[in-house]
Amino acid sequence: MPMQPAPTDRRALQTENLNVYYRDNHALKDANLIFARNEITALIGASGCGKSTFLRCLNLMNRQIPHCRIEGRILFEGTDINTADEDVYKVRRHIGMVFQRPNPFYKSIYDNIAFAPRQHGIRDKAELDELVESSLRQAALWKEVSGKLDTTALALSGGQQQRLCIARALALKPEVLLLDEPCSALDPRSTRYIESLLTELKDAYTMVIVTHNLQQAWRIADRTAFFLLGEVVEYNATTALFTEPVDTRTSDYLSGRFG
Ligand SMILES: Nc1ncnc2c1ncn2[C@@H]1O[C@H](COP(=O)(O)OP(=O)(O)O)[C@@H](O)[C@H]1O
Ligand SMILES: [Mg+2]
Repeated sequence: MPMQPAPTDRRALQTENLNVYYRDNHALKDANLIFARNEITALIGASGCGKSTFLRCLNLMNRQIPHCRIEGRILFEGTDINTADEDVYKVRRHIGMVFQRPNPFYKSIYDNIAFAPRQHGIRDKAELDELVESSLRQAALWKEVSGKLDTTALALSGGQQQRLCIARALALKPEVLLLDEPCSALDPRSTRYIESLLTELKDAYTMVIVTHNLQQAWRIADRTAFFLLGEVVEYNATTALFTEPVDTRTSDYLSGRFG
């Protein structure tokens, strides 16, 4: 596989020979990818090619699917987390996830953000207040909601709800943020807003984003991996992958989608 790995000293996450099976459907084949700290990596490819499957492996979410088998190594800061005794709640504290459809809880804005920290034992009101404010600020939502933290999150617009979901993920102070097509339910304006937010968050987080929007990968991702039928065909710096793809399957996909 043509691949330009991330610098050794900046590896936040890495998969080695990762294979996923749903019963006899071999949905992910020998995925070897490295994600560098403080970078955005985009996963692109046609629907059904295993992008979400791969992403869900990274914070052990596929473990909830009974007929799913995951083989290979998932190294987080150098340690394999794909082991039977790994604590999934601990992993998800370090590796957060944002989904395709904004899915705020049926709770106030404040309680949406405070929910997970409370579950992890934070009870101090001042500490929670601070976490709620800093998370909302990081997600570029604070100015819009600071005066109505007690109102329901469901009254927010779609774009605001997605930023709330990002704030909710940030409240646990993770190192890595996984995003599965986070803008696909949003209008172009909200999409651009989230894109610039993610670019700002790079200073503090490592991000892996699944997107069906090639322009989005081009705009925000440092590296891009192209998936086809469960296989990572090519992985490189975004500019190189888009302008000088090595594998003809990559160029076919890119020209088909652009041309
Ligand atoms: N929960 C599941 N149970 C069984 N098969 C699944 C499940 N999730 C995904 N698959 C299968 O795995 C393959 C990859 O799907 P997915 O990872 O969702 O692709 P993508 O995100 O690229 O659209 C598809 O064949 C899909 O049908
Ligand atoms: Mg998907």
